[in-house]
Amino acid sequence: MISVTNIVKYHGPTRILDGASITIRKGEVAAIIGPSGGGKSTLLRCINGLELFQEGEIGVGDAAKLIGGQTPTKATLIQLRRMVGMVFQQFNLFPHMTVLKNVMAGPIYALGKSHAEAETIAKKLLDRVGLSPRIDAKPWQLSGGQQQRVAIARALAVNPAAILFDEPTSALDPKMSAEVMRVIDDLADDEQFQAAMVIVSHDLAAVKKIADTVHVLNAGRVAYTGPAAEAFAPGGPVEKME
Ligand SMILES: Nc1ncnc2c1ncn2[C@@H]1O[C@H](COP(=O)(O)OP(=O)(O)OP(=O)(O)O)[C@@H](O)[C@H]1O
Ligand SMILES: [Mg+2]
Repeated sequence: MISVTNIVKYHGPTRILDGASITIRKGEVAAIIGPSGGGKSTLLRCINGLELFQEGEIGVGDAAKLIGGQTPTKATLIQLRRMVGMVFQQFNLFPHMTVLKNVMAGPIYALGKSHAEAETIAKKLLDRVGLSPRIDAKPWQLSGGQQQRVAIARALAVNPAAILFDEPTSALDPKMSAEVMRVIDDLADDEQFQAAMVIVSHDLAAVKKIADTVHVLNAGRVAYTGPAAEAFAPGGPVEKME
């Protein structure tokens, strides 16, 4: 579903990603962990076309392919935006729009749905993340945890093949963090939900609970890939990393 093959990415002279390869299957929850500056956010940004890379290949689904050193066509980028949802640390909601409109935007602009169809999709998703009572609020009227749940509903609204979470709870206090992780956990457990999920997080307890597979990214290289049970085993790679 998502295949990242030997990605190399430079910022100026610095090699930020140094031949990273990762495969994430449909329905799988993959965690990317590792030291600060290791390239986790950069890798996610390459997967959804927000950043270019110099070498290697990224495929999402059967259709969207990004090739190192090549500027993707507009059509590829549009396709990628439809297929990949992204949830950021700082929520990044549209500040001037209501909660409902934030979630309707994707179906209308990316999928070409009618206003009525988009509203039905958005209301269902906002119910799923527990925000039905707040659909007419503006983002600034919500708590951080509520804003992040809106951001998740917004990412889901285009029915993506993959959803990427970059430290979705690190700006939140423990209670709000738990609310957001519950929503992600619920998606992970949902048999109907077949998107590949990638979560970058420093919250190792949460990662241990929800991830199927763990990848440790260190200095732009994948230093370890394995099942979560093995990664978190006593004396395993996660313990060694700490
Ligand atoms: N626009 C940029 N220009 C120059 N260097 C950059 C740029 N963006 C990121 N970097 C560098 O790339 C490296 C990887 O950054 P990245 O944000 O991907 O790390 P990360 O693993 O997400 O770290 P954290 O856990 O702190 O979020 C860092 O050394 C960072 O300073
Ligand atoms: Mg980061």
